[in-house]
This record gives sequence, structure tokens and C-alpha cells, in this order.
Amino acid sequence: MNNIIIYASNYGATKDYANKLALELDANIINIKDVNPKYLDAYNLIIIGSGLYASGLNESKKILKILKMYKDSNKKFIIFTVGIADPENINTVKAINKSMVMAYPSEVCAEYKLFNLRGALNYKKLNMKHRAMMFMFKLMLKHKKEKTPEDEYILNTYGTKINFVNYETLNPIINYAKEIIETQQ
Ligand SMILES: Cc1cc2nc3c(=O)[nH]c(=O)nc-3n(C[C@H](O)[C@H](O)[C@H](O)COP(=O)(O)O)c2cc1C
Repeated sequence: MNNIIIYASNYGATKDYANKLALELDANIINIKDVNPKYLDAYNLIIIGSGLYASGLNESKKILKILKMYKDSNKKFIIFTVGIADPENINTVKAINKSMVMAYPSEVCAEYKLFNLRGALNYKKLNMKHRAMMFMFKLMLKHKKEKTPEDEYILNTYGTKINFVNYETLNPIINYAKEIIETQQ
């Protein structure tokens, strides 16, 4: 069986997770920028990892194209998101699920199993656009009346370096992928 990990990563957290997954699953790995969706036909299991940016997935359009192209195939898809919000928090998971359903409607997209991982944020490394987005987000949160603990966390850590990358959180993905690989052999 042929499997591949595709990653969309601006600052490396998703890429680091993807590299570790590729090692564990003995899979090919590729940057989404180098993917031609047509050439994914050779793969049975396709794992897509992407960072969360303003609640949407990085390279969302390309991911949509892939999921649409293989809607009626027998390929298996796994998507993992990487964000700074805590995926142990039910509200975080609900918000991610909601935006995924809107971005990749099941009527036109292949089915996928979703996992959510926690990433990193180093304000000093952000490009101008992302720095401006985080600044606007901070202003919005500051004026929000009823702040959630997550809002408070973003405000308290604004401008610093946060890193929650934890390879152990890949275990559920590895186990799920291995089950698929075994049944398809
Ligand atoms: C402009 C901007 C917007 C972000 N939006 C979200 C978000 O909506 N939800 C979230 O959990 N994390 C968000 N993050 C945090 C990133 O998802 C996190 O830094 C992640 O590790 C990025 O992965 P990457 O380094 O592979 O690109 C945002 C970060 C930036 C800079």
C-alpha cells in the first residue's frame, strides 16, 4: 500500500508533526505547494496536515481541490489541524469541526477522519501580514466583554513564544492510520 503525508506549514509546527508521522508510518511526505492533485492517484491513504489560521486551514483551496477530486474514490483521508488553541477544550473542537464542515461540505468532498493537534507561535518570527492579523485579534479580544479562558490566554501570551508541539499527541493518528494500512494489505 502506498501512503503519503501532505503538509501545509508556515512556521514549521505542522511540518515537524508531518515528518514524525512519515517516519512512524514509513510514508512519503510532500509540501502541499509541490502537490499536483492529479498525481495523488497512486496513493491509497492520504494524510493532510495543515495549520489553523483565523479558524481556517492553511492552503484551504488546494485541500478542497484534492478532496473534491477524489470524492468518489476508495482512498482513505486523514486530516490533522495544528493550532494554538487547546484541542482538549470541547469548544475548540466544536469550532474547528464547524469550520471544517463549512469549508469541505460532504456533498462535494471525500470523507475524512479529523484530528486536532496543538502547535506553536513565535511572534518574533511572524511575517507582516500575520503580525497584523494577531494585532487585530488582540484588539478584538481586549474589547470583548465576556472573555473565555482561551481569550485570556492569547492576551496574556501576546508577543511571546509559545510551543505546545508534542509528538505523543500523534499516537491516535498513527494507530488509526496503521489500522487502515493493515486492512488494505
Ligand atoms: C495570523 C494567525 C492566525 C492564527 N489563527 C489561529 C486560529 O484560528 N486557531 C488556532 O488554534 N491557532 C491559530 N493560529 C496559531 C497557528 O495555528 C499555530 O501557530 C500553528 O502552529 C501554525 O502551524 P505552522 O507553523 O505549521 O504554520 C494563528 C496564528 C497566526 C499567526
